Amino acid sequence: MIETERLILRNYTMNDFDALYEIVSDPETMQHYPAPFDEEKTRGWIKWNLENYEKYDFGLWAVVLKETGEFIGDCGITIQDIDGELLPEIGYHIHKKYWRRGFAKEAARAVRDWVFTNTDYNEIYSYMKYTNVGSYSTAIANGMRKVKEYLDPKNYVSYAYSIKRADWENIVAGPKTVTKEDIKSALEKLGVEKGMVLEVHSSLKSFGNVPGGAQSVIDALKETVTEEGSIFMPALRLSPEMELTEEDKKLGIKVKIKVLDRDEKKTAMGIIADTFRSLPDTYTGNDVISTSGWGKHGKEALTGGLDYAIHNGGKALLFGVDIYKLTAMHYMEVHTPKEINELYAPSDEVNKIYPPEEWFIETGHPPLKAWYTIQNMAYKKGLIKETYIGNCHVMYFDILDVVSLYAEELKNRPFELWGIKE
Ligand SMILES: CC(C)(COP(=O)(O)OP(=O)(O)OC[C@H]1O[C@@H](n2cnc3c(N)ncnc32)[C@H](O)[C@@H]1OP(=O)(O)O)[C@@H](O)C(=O)NCCC(=O)NCCS
Repeated sequence: MIETERLILRNYTMNDFDALYEIVSDPETMQHYPAPFDEEKTRGWIKWNLENYEKYDFGLWAVVLKETGEFIGDCGITIQDIDGELLPEIGYHIHKKYWRRGFAKEAARAVRDWVFTNTDYNEIYSYMKYTNVGSYSTAIANGMRKVKEYLDPKNYVSYAYSIKRADWENIVAGPKTVTKEDIKSALEKLGVEKGMVLEVHSSLKSFGNVPGGAQSVIDALKETVTEEGSIFMPALRLSPEMELTEEDKKLGIKVKIKVLDRDEKKTAMGIIADTFRSLPDTYTGNDVISTSGWGKHGKEALTGGLDYAIHNGGKALLFGVDIYKLTAMHYMEVHTPKEINELYAPSDEVNKIYPPEEWFIETGHPPLKAWYTIQNMAYKKGLIKETYIGNCHVMYFDILDVVSLYAEELKNRPFELWGIKE
């Protein structure tokens, strides 16, 4: 039995049938499943969990309100096939009359803590159909990060999120204070040294509490590579993704981002990159899609963006962000087949409403976000070194090693990579 502030998680019994059936037979609740459950499937669900308790000592547990004992859903851990691998997975179902009151989050966090305390698993997952916003939002609230997008025969596109034991230990330890010296010593341990060329993407808040803020992170980087080295950061003059209006949706728009004015201080690149860009000894281009550079070869940012870093042994450092921030990946997209680009190019109508000089618009995504596939390949090949600096998860790798994987995939199997059926 697991107890939280408002909930008890206990073993299922067959007596839970009626209350469970009310939840899983409801078409709205089951909209991301192939179909709502009938009575037989609901009984089978309870039986499957009773068997799980026998076999594994865990399963999905009944979630009941502590105060009244009312059954409001289930949450727990089962072994699931996630893209061909059998992995421990946290699942949850909550009665719709109790949605958006934090119950799934409360239950899922308690299950996560239970698993890391009572089993040897070093990574736990949650997976869902890509349309299931409630489910992946709960995974994120549970400290998980997206690790995979894949085609699933049932779901078409599935997302897998996960949390590793080290991430969990970090969360349990609470916010940490990280000084410039902490960052420098962690960088040294990773192998960052004097004279290196770095491409850096970052989230300041991922560190915890940093005295001196963005400037301390920048100073730590500069003092480590010194003026013999070079640092590049993104300087794209773009806003965060904006909410879509009904009109936008009708036009098939999927992503809407505003081009910002030249003197705009805050962009979607994060405060570390924004601060870096504004420093007097940083070189930054005038284009919307620019890179800023500092150090021995920093000026290269003005003419070649990240070309210098990619082709001169540059290393990538991702502070609390994932491969989706790695601008160098885009440099490989010259290999994307024309047919794929044409499939997702905004129409003339959209371009008229949102002129490309003022807006960054996407009118469709390929079914899969291929970059997670590349991130996984890179991990499997041992190309990515990881560490934590305070609460910040850091990835460190040779830029060309990783982006070359992408270039090769784009050349050899682009349609498969993007999940586009030819
Ligand atoms: C997924 C589900 C369990 C979430 O339950 P819930 O109790 O409403 O979730 P919570 O209130 O704990 O919310 C958890 C997080 O998800 C967010 N969230 C939940 N439902 C959401 C929705 N429909 N849209 C956007 N965000 C949502 C919450 O805002 C919260 O995030 P926050 O901590 O950043 O604020 C519930 O919607 C459900 O039972 N769905 C049907 C069954 C199902 O699909 N299960 C998952 C199978 S893969």
